[in-house]
Amino acid sequence: MKGLPPILSLVLVAIAGVAAAGAANPARDAILAAFAAAAKQADPAFTGFSADRGHAFWTVAHAGGKPDTPSCTSCHTVDPTAVGQTRAGKQIAPMAVSKTPDRFTDSAKVEKWFGRNCSTVLGRDCTAAEKGDVITYLAGK
Ligand code: HEC
Repeated sequence: MKGLPPILSLVLVAIAGVAAAGAANPARDAILAAFAAAAKQADPAFTGFSADRGHAFWTVAHAGGKPDTPSCTSCHTVDPTAVGQTRAGKQIAPMAVSKTPDRFTDSAKVEKWFGRNCSTVLGRDCTAAEKGDVITYLAGK
């Protein structure tokens, strides 16, 4: 940044910081903010989402759902940048936001599929904290 006026250097650093934090998107941010409010209401000790928790939740084998799909990765694959597959063999676009930029930007779609898939994999709804962790993990991929 040598030779640039200091204020311009600061602006460039700020832009680089946003880009490094993943693809920011106002619709996705609003969905995350709503899950954060719900998570805080459910648990006053909630302090924010975690990509690491989201990664663990996404990849672990859960109990309580259908035995042939114990994990989110059963259909979405372990590598979120890869194309997934339904049980019927239909392709699923990658969940990583770097590959499919409109992921988690339509709240009706987000709710529909969390509802369906959490019930299939866990036999229960996902909590707001779990949903926010998963989106945070996949938005950074
Ligand atoms: C039985 C296969 C299957 C399993 C298991 C599965 N999914 Fe999905 N998921 C799909 C399909 C099919 C879609 C819709 C197609 C698409 O969005 O490309 C989808 C879409 C989604 C979406 C919508 C994403 C968006 O674009 O907004 C979310 C959120 C999601 N899944 C979360 C999960 C989570 C969390 C788990 C694990 C608890 C999981 N899925 C397990 C098949 C599955």
